[in-house]
Amino acid sequence: MLFLHKLLLHIRFYIQIPNTIKELEIVRINIIGKKGTISSLLKLLSKLNIVKRSLFGNIINNIKQITQLLFTNRKYKIEALTLEERIIKENVDASLPGRILTIGSMHPITDIISKTERFFLKLGFISMSGIEIEDAFHNFEALNIPKYHPSRTEHATFWLTKKLLLRTQASNMQSRILIKQKPPIKVISSGCVYRNDYNKTHTPMFHQLEGFLVDKTISFSNLKTIVRDFIWFLFNNKINLRFRPSYFPFTKLSTEVDILSSSNSWLEVLGCGMIHPKLLNNANISTNYSGFAFGIGIERLAMLYYNMNDIRFLYDNDLRFLKQC
Ligand code: DAH
Repeated sequence: MLFLHKLLLHIRFYIQIPNTIKELEIVRINIIGKKGTISSLLKLLSKLNIVKRSLFGNIINNIKQITQLLFTNRKYKIEALTLEERIIKENVDASLPGRILTIGSMHPITDIISKTERFFLKLGFISMSGIEIEDAFHNFEALNIPKYHPSRTEHATFWLTKKLLLRTQASNMQSRILIKQKPPIKVISSGCVYRNDYNKTHTPMFHQLEGFLVDKTISFSNLKTIVRDFIWFLFNNKINLRFRPSYFPFTKLSTEVDILSSSNSWLEVLGCGMIHPKLLNNANISTNYSGFAFGIGIERLAMLYYNMNDIRFLYDNDLRFLKQC
């Protein structure tokens, strides 16, 4: 009897030793497994007389049940301790707020270009990419701007070599495409242009979208309607605009378009006109055809659209500003 009492004490002691479920399982197999201590004791019962067999049998079975309970308790304890240790080790602060996923958006310049392209593509224009390293011929001469033409001075040009330059206007694509394609031609082309200027309203690199249409019976009223519809599309029909006579060497009947700002002043947004007959002639396009062209300053539109007074905000990459657009 005393022996069995001691056995239970031993079992209690050994069950407290393991610190992992794996170790605990080894102890369990040793004590109540098929070949464990308790099974060997039960086997010995056959050697006792009936009275002692049932007495010891009962006690050993009780010890077995208690042992099983002790194992279950120890298992729960080990699991709880392991979890606690993991939490401390991994340093999880469940009270911290979750990470906010910030969602990006289009840059104002990209946004205005894509809105503008969407408008003209719907009208059947096709979009063509342009080249930025250009020769003087396509940037100037082919656009009726010969070497000593006064308007060349307005283009503070970045020359790369004696003949090559960074294009100063997206109209270079007009001169290239007119020569290559047969009418009807309906093209838009957007991209970067470069001029050596830097202040509140100018950056050395900026964006233009050039568009032109050549077909039979194209008149200035077609140009006016398309440009007006475009401005109303972008500024929600609410805005007042005017066509102001101007001068560009590559258009004959040249105008600039101004819109009336919220502060009641007229602001220039684009240049346009009827393509100069010289350009059509140089491209071997018959006199049965006429065409119009327009050049949109994307930064200028973006500044009006987002109500900005300094162009440099567009290039500072300051998220506080960009998030407001
Ligand atoms: N290329 C001109 C500029 O950079 C803008 C322009 C004006 C383009 C009139 C045109 C146009 O096609 O017809 O200032």
